[in-house]
Amino acid sequence: MLNKNILIRKAHYQDIADIGALDALVFHENAWSTENFTRELSLHFSRLFVAGIDKQFAGFILAWYIADEIQLLRIAVVPQFQRHKIGTMLVQHLINHADNQKKIVLEVADTNSSAINFYTSLGFYSVGFRKDYYRFDNAILMEKIIHHEN
Ligand SMILES: CC(C)(COP(=O)(O)OP(=O)(O)OC[C@H]1O[C@@H](n2cnc3c(N)ncnc32)[C@H](O)[C@@H]1OP(=O)(O)O)[C@@H](O)C(=O)NCCC(=O)NCCS
Repeated sequence: MLNKNILIRKAHYQDIADIGALDALVFHENAWSTENFTRELSLHFSRLFVAGIDKQFAGFILAWYIADEIQLLRIAVVPQFQRHKIGTMLVQHLINHADNQKKIVLEVADTNSSAINFYTSLGFYSVGFRKDYYRFDNAILMEKIIHHEN
């Protein structure tokens, strides 16, 4: 674990450049434009959170809260800060913001073994498969049940 202060908060317009740059770095030809991320800030069902380490941008997570599901659309951690549980904290943050949502659902490329390991470590399991879902890859559908206290 990093011996530093990790803070997760709602993203603001001023964070979009960092988010877009990290998205381009890790998702290459599948990256979103900064306009796409900016649009998310105004959607009432969308939540975009950023992680910071001592005020340095460390990663983000984007999800839609629709009916009883949280759809995890994107998550990325700055490479130098990966494997320090920041991704885990970002997913936990989504769960902490759940209202009536009963599960988190997502799609992941079947070639992205590190992300599949990551989600599995958090208790997600595979519920489906979509052939040729991405331009070059198939998608695995995963979900995790949210256990609300009370
Ligand atoms: C996936 C990602 C967000 C994980 O973030 P992270 O902060 O590094 O993850 P964590 O430190 O919370 O990892 C928790 C556990 O997940 C698993 N895991 C995470 N990254 C892994 C990797 N590269 N290889 C294998 N297992 C991994 C491990 O079990 C890890 O626990 P451990 O470090 O004690 O072994 C990060 O690797 C990333 O940004 N990848 C590029 C973008 C991406 O692929 N996003 C998902 C698209 S669907």
